Amino acid sequence: MRKQSTARAPINIALIKYWGKRDEQLVLPYNPSISLSLDVFETKTTMMDSPNEAFTFHLNGQPNEAMKQKVSRFLQHFTKGVYPTHLHVETFNSGPTAAGLASSASGFAALAVCANHYYQTGFTLEELASITRLGSGSAIRSLLPGCVLWNTNGTIESLPFPFPEVYMAILVVNAFEKKIGSTEAMKSSVHTCPHYLDFVKQSHQDAVMFQQALMNRDLQAVGLLAEQNALAMHQVINSSIPPVHYLTEESYRIIHLIQEARNSKLFEGYCTMDAGPNVKVLMTVQDKSKFEEFAKTHHFPAVLWSGIDHVGAVIVNE
Ligand code: PMV
Repeated sequence: MRKQSTARAPINIALIKYWGKRDEQLVLPYNPSISLSLDVFETKTTMMDSPNEAFTFHLNGQPNEAMKQKVSRFLQHFTKGVYPTHLHVETFNSGPTAAGLASSASGFAALAVCANHYYQTGFTLEELASITRLGSGSAIRSLLPGCVLWNTNGTIESLPFPFPEVYMAILVVNAFEKKIGSTEAMKSSVHTCPHYLDFVKQSHQDAVMFQQALMNRDLQAVGLLAEQNALAMHQVINSSIPPVHYLTEESYRIIHLIQEARNSKLFEGYCTMDAGPNVKVLMTVQDKSKFEEFAKTHHFPAVLWSGIDHVGAVIVNE
């Protein structure tokens, strides 16, 4: 019988950001990060025996040489370092690839869970987590559903998230592939940004206060911490040498309008941005229609709505 395994994993968006590795080899972060796994996009990956000796890899139905190299290296964590053969891997991202919408996160989480099943390696969640982050740091958080804490020692844990009615509005300012990848930009920030260590110190404090805010069921504190932390990360990125600018004029226009709307009590939305120009806005279900109207009046890009993913990275073929 031909062997085949399929896994899915959600994208995740950090509310307290990971930006910098204290250990490049093991992919250990300088500061803890906290994310929400989202249900709007996912990656589905299938690994199957191939009659041909070669290892083949397709991304969204097309062969992809650059990713194939990365995937073959990643799979060697499951094969004791042996290059994969007689194997075909099919990966589908339901959202845009590499546009700051965390497709590499869902991609490596799905691949890790899929490979663990396909090769019957039987790795525990902790073992799988230490492999997954080698593909992409933030992928580690896509292993779990809901709200996830990635500790600086490399472990992950689920945090109770007391806001079931929370949504994320994703404003796709630009869905094209980013020019400078997060790995490269992150490294530059660590080595050249004069206030990088202040950001690390602040993020440690933000992660503690964020967990306190979750325990207090204080959405305002959660949202403000997330927005300030994201803006602080972008200040670090902007002041690296040479500077990198992921946020565009359009991103800043949207952020400022949302801040104004919040201050004038029109609706309660909080922004977060990653290694791309897109703006994600956290809010409760009560504010969705007010936000839609505001977005239309101010000519925001089309809004993609996401709820929280409650599944995480799992095998789906059984
Ligand atoms: O995992 P990477 O290398 O793609 O880094 C992602 C970094 C951010 O998305 C900007 C922040 C985060 O915590 O996800």
